[in-house]
Amino acid sequence: MNILILGSGGREHALAWAVQQNPKCDRLIVAPGNAGIAQIAECADLDILDGAAVADWACEESIDFVIVGPEAPLAEGVADTLRTAGIAVFGPSRQAARLEASKSFTKEICAAVNAPTAAYGRFDDLASARAYLAAQPIPIVIKADGLAAGKGVTVAETRAQAEAALADIFDGAHGRAEVVIEAFLTGEEASFFCLVDGETVLPLGTAQDHKRVGEGDTGPNTGGMGAYSPAPVMTPQVEARALDEIVRPTMSEMVRRGTPFQGVLFVGLMIDAGAPSLVEYNVRFGDPECQCLMMRLGGQVLDLLLACAEGQLDRAQVHWAEDHALCVVMAAAGYPGSYAKGGAICGLDALPSDSRNMVFHAGTARRDGQTVAAGGRVLGVTARGDTLSEARDRAYAMVDGVDWPDGFCRRDIGWRAL
Ligand code: AMP
Ligand code: GLY
Repeated sequence: MNILILGSGGREHALAWAVQQNPKCDRLIVAPGNAGIAQIAECADLDILDGAAVADWACEESIDFVIVGPEAPLAEGVADTLRTAGIAVFGPSRQAARLEASKSFTKEICAAVNAPTAAYGRFDDLASARAYLAAQPIPIVIKADGLAAGKGVTVAETRAQAEAALADIFDGAHGRAEVVIEAFLTGEEASFFCLVDGETVLPLGTAQDHKRVGEGDTGPNTGGMGAYSPAPVMTPQVEARALDEIVRPTMSEMVRRGTPFQGVLFVGLMIDAGAPSLVEYNVRFGDPECQCLMMRLGGQVLDLLLACAEGQLDRAQVHWAEDHALCVVMAAAGYPGSYAKGGAICGLDALPSDSRNMVFHAGTARRDGQTVAAGGRVLGVTARGDTLSEARDRAYAMVDGVDWPDGFCRRDIGWRAL
């Protein structure tokens, strides 16, 4: 098969790494890719938000299967355009991608099937948002309603913070001025990944990430500073409740509305005393959760994604090893605020690169024969082990071999579970 993966981050490097281990994969192209991906696949310079351009290119290159990594092309309807052109694609339609693109849409779907999630109000003007806020207890959660790269959410500990977040949103900081104000949920968070081909839901795996930039889970939210899989809090009982109370009813509601979901559903949960509530849906793999999942799943991923795209999940099976994976994100100093690009990253060639140790590239480029930083999150240093602490020790041993003066990472990834 000729396979095209859309995206350029650590998630796509991990997907490419797993897919190319499957003997079905003859030719692998990633668009646009990055310097790490270029070591294991061809990279093509395509505008991945332009569905027609991607479909034309895929036809010319005889692409058999397209895997869409990030949410933005999905929200633009790129998967719809590819399917219309007769190309098999892994990823939901534009309508189904609203489960991530619109927080209020997901709330409405949850309400329709009584799925547990935080109570909320949705507003498109500052005055009504402020009036609602005044009557709510603190802490409270303020969310810009739209795609915001993980940065549109404020967990406000004081009324002043909540007011400031509202003011920001209605000043246009996140594009569209619409807000969801949500009750604050307590408990432990976990990410649950399910493949869905309309009606059939196949649990794929669990992970936990660290969204805050600072050690001890403090400071501003980021796209994710590290992750590990599996998530100990996702016991078989919690998983069964999440499937029965949240995932299956909402996926059936999507089918009933004529907009079935096909792809990977990233179920963000808050678990309190064994009871899961939905924090959010995403319609793609998490980044860096994907790096951990791919390292544990390996080449079978291609068979699973194909079964999903072909509506054959009822016949698919996930084979898990009893192991653990942990990913440490190395980011550019200043991230998630402004940061410098272009600093040289040395030492990578001396690091192991095998089925238990991989440095996935997130934001890198090649310049004058060197690997340089080209983004906020730059590397996803990932390792597998028989225990979580073994995976952690391996990952940090690799981190210590990276010579990148402009970079930083959290030293406590996995602390909750360890
Ligand atoms: P989201 O983009 O909706 O996942 O929100 C980003 C992060 O904010 C989540 O991973 C949680 O850590 C936190 N968060 C979001 N909603 C809530 C909530 N209702 N209660 C507590 N924390 C929340
Ligand atoms: N790591 C969180 C996300 O991908 O949204």
